[in-house]
Amino acid sequence: MNLPIKKGCKTLAPLAGYSDVAFRRICHEMGADLTVTEMVSVAGLNYKSKKTNRLLEKFEGESPSCVQLFGREVEQFERALSHPEVQKFDIIDVNMGCPVRKVFSHGEGSALLLEPERAEQIVKALKKGDKPVSIKMRLGVSDNANALDFAKRMEQAGADFITVHGRTKEQLYSGEADWDSIRKIASALRIPVLGNGDVNDSNIEERLVGVYGVAIGRGAVENPQIFLGKRKLSRFELIMKHLEYGEYYLGDKYFSHSLRSFIPFYLKGLPDIKKIRNEAVIAKTKDELLEILNKYKPQLV
Ligand SMILES: Cc1cc2nc3c(=O)[nH]c(=O)nc-3n(C[C@H](O)[C@H](O)[C@H](O)COP(=O)(O)O)c2cc1C
Repeated sequence: MNLPIKKGCKTLAPLAGYSDVAFRRICHEMGADLTVTEMVSVAGLNYKSKKTNRLLEKFEGESPSCVQLFGREVEQFERALSHPEVQKFDIIDVNMGCPVRKVFSHGEGSALLLEPERAEQIVKALKKGDKPVSIKMRLGVSDNANALDFAKRMEQAGADFITVHGRTKEQLYSGEADWDSIRKIASALRIPVLGNGDVNDSNIEERLVGVYGVAIGRGAVENPQIFLGKRKLSRFELIMKHLEYGEYYLGDKYFSHSLRSFIPFYLKGLPDIKKIRNEAVIAKTKDELLEILNKYKPQLV
């Protein structure tokens, strides 16, 4: 199957609460080679809830695009294939890494690492459609002993590529991602493997060695221009653009619902930023934030 990603690709990792349509458009414009939605419940797809619709919003020109699904029932994944909002996306990814208790305890996300047969059936069910299918996995639940075997099984089941986050479920986000294990999996598989975990501005080129590409999560929230390799927009311009896109796609509550949580990350790396950050993070309304940002505009480079 022809994959819409190339060797050396720098992709945006799925980030619940962050990788909404506005942030994905920012990352796309900054050169991300693939953008992925927040995780979407296959069980929730049938309910047509407002929340699910927001998650499945796509911007014009989002290509290649990927929707990430989570769940555990094979039939629900198969049914998702014909969902019109899912069909809009170029690639379907399955979450096999989420460590959150509510997800894990339902046998979803990283719990699928303990049920390789079910995980295989999910991939096979999705391969009945006409789109590339990928999975995003962690190295294991408590250790990485079965990581390579699991990845091979996903390849054999038909996965077109795999993203490996180099941590176990129990590690959550602590410690350093294990890139040796990621590279071992990448060299043993025929399909592309994207490495994931702790990629930032300073190590991105080194991380690309020995893998097909990288998926960037928190490094992109701190600096979406990481894909470009340089800062084209100032922090001020970036925040304004993000607000504009957020309100366009998701409505005028975007500031209070979403943008607020990006502000401390966007301001990182500036000297003497504490005072501005402290004022910005307690802004209750968009107008309050705009006033603060305008006051400090020359410093928000
Ligand atoms: C706030 C947050 C939300 C996340 N949401 C998802 C998600 O919806 N699906 C998923 O597969 N991984 C999710 N992840 C994991 C990231 O995609 C990524 O694997 C992890 O953060 C390690 O990469 P990084 O160091 O580049 O951030 C999330 C991580 C964070 C911090």
